[in-house]
Formats: sequence, C-alpha cells, structure tokens
Amino acid sequence: MARRRAHATYSGFKVGAALETAAGIIVTGCNIENATYGLTICAERVAMFKALSEGHRRFRRVAVVADTVEPTPPCGACRQILWEFGGDLEVILANLRRETGRHQLKSLLPLPFGRHLL
Ligand code: THU
Repeated sequence: MARRRAHATYSGFKVGAALETAAGIIVTGCNIENATYGLTICAERVAMFKALSEGHRRFRRVAVVADTVEPTPPCGACRQILWEFGGDLEVILANLRRETGRHQLKSLLPLPFGRHLL
C-alpha cells in the first residue's frame, strides 16, 4: 500500500517499507525522489524518520517491498540509519507476490559504525 504512494518520477522504481515497533505498531514509508536526484530518500528511511518523529523508539522488524523478481535489499545509507535507531532488526524482503528473503540487519551491515565508537 505504502509503495503505491512512492514519488518515483525519475527512476520509476517504487518501493514501500513497513516498520514494526516493539509495541506492534506499523509505520510505513515510500521512496520520495527529487529532481536533484541526490536528495532522494528511500522508503526505509522515510519509515524510520516518520516513526521517530511520532515518538517510537524501539523496533522489531522492517519489510521492504518492490516490484522485482530479485530481492530489493536496503541501500548502505538505510542500513546505517536502521542500525542506529533499530539495532539488529529483522529485515524481510518481498516483491508483490512473495517473500524474497529474510535477514538480520547485523549480517547486512558487518562491522557497523555506531555511537559506542564516539
Ligand atoms: N530505493 C528505496 O526506496 N529502497 C531501497 O531499498 C532501494 C532503493 C529507492 C531509491 C530510489 O528512489 C529508487 O529506489 C531507485 O534507486
């Protein structure tokens, strides 16, 4: 559903994300592109920033959906943001028909940079 709201004017690649909080609340996001390209923000970060701005602080898992045969895993920037605020989340990948993969964020972001290093 969130994917349908994607603003993917430039790539045509629509992505939806659903982030589940520790309390079981689902916060969704879609990718929002920009004419400068570089200011584009992915569905996963939109979902996380929406959730944080609504006061959620603990998360369980995130689902990412795109209309692709191959899995669409979170980009590097999203992995870093998800790690910072969600820790070792379960990351569920799916296309419009089926699940295409399930991973722990830690395995997608080995040797992460985090606040403990500051
Ligand atoms: N994109 C996402 O929203 N999430 C991903 O996991 C991969 C990429 C978006 C960014 C851009 O709007 C489009 O997909 C093509 O890269």
